[in-house]
Amino acid sequence: MVFDPHSFRKNIAGIKTQVPTISGKKMAYINFDNAASTPPLISTIKETQAFMQWYSGVHRGTGYKSIIASKAYDFCHQIVGKFVKANLENNTVIMVKNTTEAINKLSYRLPLNKNDIVISSVMEHHSNDLPWRQKAHVEYIGLDEAGNLCMEDLEKKLRRLYPRVKLLAICGASNVTGQLNKIHDFAYLAHKYDTPIFVDAAQLIPHNPIDMKDDHDPYHIDYLAFSGHKIYSPYGSGCLIGPKKTFMANEPEYKGGGTVKMVLPHKIWWADLPEKEEAGSPNVIGAFALAKSLQLMESIGMEKVAAYEKFLTDYALAKLKNIPGITIFGTSPRVGVISFNLAGLHHALVGAALCYEAGIGVRTGCFCAQPYVRKLLLLDKKPVLASPSLNDNWSKMPGMVRISLGAYNTTKEIDILVKHLHRIALNRRHYLKEYYYSTAKNEFLPRNNNELNKWIDRTVMANFE
Ligand code: ALA
Repeated sequence: MVFDPHSFRKNIAGIKTQVPTISGKKMAYINFDNAASTPPLISTIKETQAFMQWYSGVHRGTGYKSIIASKAYDFCHQIVGKFVKANLENNTVIMVKNTTEAINKLSYRLPLNKNDIVISSVMEHHSNDLPWRQKAHVEYIGLDEAGNLCMEDLEKKLRRLYPRVKLLAICGASNVTGQLNKIHDFAYLAHKYDTPIFVDAAQLIPHNPIDMKDDHDPYHIDYLAFSGHKIYSPYGSGCLIGPKKTFMANEPEYKGGGTVKMVLPHKIWWADLPEKEEAGSPNVIGAFALAKSLQLMESIGMEKVAAYEKFLTDYALAKLKNIPGITIFGTSPRVGVISFNLAGLHHALVGAALCYEAGIGVRTGCFCAQPYVRKLLLLDKKPVLASPSLNDNWSKMPGMVRISLGAYNTTKEIDILVKHLHRIALNRRHYLKEYYYSTAKNEFLPRNNNELNKWIDRTVMANFE
């Protein structure tokens, strides 16, 4: 059966939310900011609500609720492992808050020192860059002429720096351009030099199937992390998957309740995995919600989701290309994450116009990937354009406008976006006049925004009454 985006759309919470615009007209909100966070699935909300009757402390209690909640929580780990085809005999699934926490955890749990080298790339989100900087020396794979991660550059680095390279850490898909990296080819090359690979799958997980492959396969992925909020379950759970032997060695970076079998005044026996790595009472509800969203996506079939999103992405690219003065960054193959700029218009101004005039949500700026954005904007060799000391006027910060698609978005929504972008691109002067940059709020605002502000405040407070 073909993927039906309309029935998937019916399962998305808040799909009919109405928002005001400066014209006074209300519009159905269009969410093109899925790369930041996807909305929750209604089925996940309902199933999680139903599970609440069994909610209890896990791994500690003796009552039925604790027994059931513990077994369910443990089972969530298996569902996560199965979704990415991890071999769970030799690998463990550790529940964390999100991808950032997972990467920080791994940076603490690998026995790295400042003489060791982690190879990352210029394409990374800060979360797959900064944690490695504090633990090792980081080398960055550059881009080839087509803008892809350069395989030759990696091989050169691996050869030159062998045996000091302890990890290759790259993203499965970029959160800026959506570009897909050939993670299995990179894994093969890294393994040739006895180097394990970590894949930041935050932007890959909702879009494409993932297969970590068997540990003996030279193309296998050693470590993988992703967040629930990127795949329709924003309940504060994410995961880190990797070899048991890594986490059996040494002490966990967080210690405390749940991480031990026995404690004497001067001796500790650590718990088995994954408990050893999940200090404190875990987020049982978050893990449950994540598992339910993964089960739903699996029942649809990630291949079908990928095929629909490819169609949607190609459709958006073809339409966007015709907007006057547009520059689209990055290259294909990519997931549905597209960043662009309109000539003569600040990225945040375009974002503000889409928000206040069309009810469209996008993200603007550098997307927590400043080195990559600077590179794409050809600013990496130039002096830094803005810094916190520059009167705090962040409007000088370079950036882009990003749309990011989910499997529930439609061509009709893309048509609406394109119509508004056309209008914005052709009326540059109007936009420069009608909006102002607020240093206090660090954003562009319409000059006449009293009514909109009142509506925002009323809507926020209605949730607390
Ligand atoms: N990493 C997320 C994004 O790209 C938050 O928007």
